[in-house]
Amino acid sequence: MTGLPHERAAVLRRVLNEHSYRYYVLHDPVVSDGEYDLLFRELRALEAAHPELVTADSPTQRAGSDLTQGFPKAPHPKPVLSLANAFSTADLQDWERRNRRMVPEGSFVYVVEPKLDGLTIVLRYEDGVLVQAATRGDGSVGDVVTANARTIQSIPLRIPISGAQAAPPVLVVRGEILFTKEAFAALNEARRNSGEPAYINARNTASGSLKQKDARMTAQRDLSAYCYDILYMEGLSLDSRMSQHALLQSLGFVTPPQVQRCDDMEAVAARIAWWAQQRPELPYEIDGVVIKVENLGLESMLGVVGKDPRAAIAYKYPSEKATTRLLRVEPRVGRTGRITPTAHLEPVFVGGVTVTHATLHNYDIIQSMDLRLEDTVLLKRSGDVIPYIIGPVVTARTGKETPVVPPDVCPSSGDTLIRGAETVDLVCPNARCPERIFRSVTFFASRGGMNIDGLGPQTLKLLIAEGLIAGEADLFTLTAEQLLPLEGLGEKKTAQLLAAIEETKGRPLAQIVASLGISGLGETMAKLIVQAIPAVAALADMAQAVRAAETEAEALVPGLKGAFVDLALKSALSPNPGKRIGRLLKARYEAAADQHDSLQRLFGQANEAIRPLISIDGVGPSLVQTIIEWLSDSNNLAMLEKMRAAGLRLSEEVRAPAQVTLAGLTFVLTGKLPALSRGDARQLIEAHGGRVTSSVSRRTSYLVAGEGAGTKAKKAAALGVPVLDEAALRALMAGKDS
Ligand code: IVH
Repeated sequence: MTGLPHERAAVLRRVLNEHSYRYYVLHDPVVSDGEYDLLFRELRALEAAHPELVTADSPTQRAGSDLTQGFPKAPHPKPVLSLANAFSTADLQDWERRNRRMVPEGSFVYVVEPKLDGLTIVLRYEDGVLVQAATRGDGSVGDVVTANARTIQSIPLRIPISGAQAAPPVLVVRGEILFTKEAFAALNEARRNSGEPAYINARNTASGSLKQKDARMTAQRDLSAYCYDILYMEGLSLDSRMSQHALLQSLGFVTPPQVQRCDDMEAVAARIAWWAQQRPELPYEIDGVVIKVENLGLESMLGVVGKDPRAAIAYKYPSEKATTRLLRVEPRVGRTGRITPTAHLEPVFVGGVTVTHATLHNYDIIQSMDLRLEDTVLLKRSGDVIPYIIGPVVTARTGKETPVVPPDVCPSSGDTLIRGAETVDLVCPNARCPERIFRSVTFFASRGGMNIDGLGPQTLKLLIAEGLIAGEADLFTLTAEQLLPLEGLGEKKTAQLLAAIEETKGRPLAQIVASLGISGLGETMAKLIVQAIPAVAALADMAQAVRAAETEAEALVPGLKGAFVDLALKSALSPNPGKRIGRLLKARYEAAADQHDSLQRLFGQANEAIRPLISIDGVGPSLVQTIIEWLSDSNNLAMLEKMRAAGLRLSEEVRAPAQVTLAGLTFVLTGKLPALSRGDARQLIEAHGGRVTSSVSRRTSYLVAGEGAGTKAKKAAALGVPVLDEAALRALMAGKDS
């Protein structure tokens, strides 16, 4: 320990609060859980020895907070506690001893569960309907993420899912949101294929995915939920952990698997060893096990210390870290030209696998870590698919280490690298860079893209090296004469490949669009866009119209160009564009006041052009920007033209116009409707142009109420929001149709 106790405590408080902020708010921790725990324990020990050092802002006085600006907040019905940690059986024995001292007559039987490595979610059900989902926040108030949570398939929207167990009138359940290993790997595979950097940490990614402003982004992430605790319940009471699990299961929740009752600490220890063995094979990441006192009466007698219940403890496995040597750093070129430094490591066994590579994100990070070649590095792999380098072990340096020098030229094309606008990334600017072509065609042809069979990496590399293809569209003009002479192709393979390519010409437009690799435009979004705008040409016209208006605007107000689309979009989103533009321009371009009218006309034009796209539910300003940029790139337009000429269908027949009888109306659903499930009702409303939100406010047009409607009906009555039953809803949808 360094310094006087009060000095050390102050340092620990500051450091821990900083780490907690990085972890919960920025989702960007710089230390491992183990390191954090070590510091935390040091502070707690210090405070135990010198109680006068405990301050209100000490991290021991609260669980870390995940509250994020911009989300509505909701209080929890009871504190959402965290857990104290144990790292050894000795810690567990101490824990039991302390508890026995408090309640000598208690029956210390335990329940042992996997400690799932995700983030807490608090789900509130009223009359069986999911009415609110919130993060833990600071333990007493959480961020409301209901719409996002609804997109997670394993969270029941209504309970019971089936069976005879009636739902209690109010039930608040606590669970864990996480990626299964498979889902996380699939997400990263898709990102890599589209030239985006893979995510490193599954838990932080789960947290980021849940805290999206747009629920459709969450929907694209394959998150899972496991529920393990009843935080609050009305109308029913239970006396044991096992009966809680049973109730949760019978209502339709997914609960942690393999929960076991253990009669004593010995059985607990055996179970911990069992889980440690299972760990590499499990479909999800665990970072330990949770040991809970089985009897809930005993739990309440034991009470709470700080923010931890005495009746439960987390046994944490040592985090999976190892040291190894950094051999070299290889710049890898992505589809978009971005260079990612990749660390080549001396093979090391960590977290059940042999690791030879790790990503380093960008060269600035390497510099800020002062990472050098031949350094001994600390590596972590826990809850993560891709291992990452925490930093160099400076004390192990021998003096032979050499700096990592960022490349000047692209390792594939030899072009001079440039720094990407507004990023720290190095970028290869050459669209014909062989590696860039390889990556983008690989994505295009992959199973998540156009799904072209028989176009393996070797064949593709050969085609690029021979100059037969310089982009996706060239695939469609390949001929047998070109392919036959190539090594390893032969008649059969050539015929198969050509047939596979030919077959893709019938692919639906949404699949083609999703295969183009436009950042943020995956399958779900492509379907939505194509449904509303069923022709690529219409999208390209839109981009052109926006660009034309932009050029004119730039002539009026030099320097406006960069902000034009942004401003146009902002005004497109505003109910009163005129005023809004005026304000924005005044703030940003004083001199433009006299050109106000001309600019307003140009923004109006851009607006008009963008409207079909921006009014698609789920399409946000940044996606519109990306699409416009992509479609104004002449290389991309030429590629589309080639595809069209080769016979790909870049437009779809226009379907019967959607019936938009509910356009502009906002609905809230409550209670059980006679014939429609909640999901069906929502879909129907949306198909008719209406919107469904989760809580009643003055802006709600109608409350659609079924059997068992509760608080929402009261609120609607109080606010004067009209209430519809299912029949009235149907009439509203149909009535204006005719
Ligand atoms: S019980 C009083 N059970 O671990 C109940 N927590 O380190 C306290 N966690 O914040 C929580 N799996 O997010 C419990 N089977 C499990 C768990 C679990 C994961 C998380 C939870 C909690 C954290 C504490």
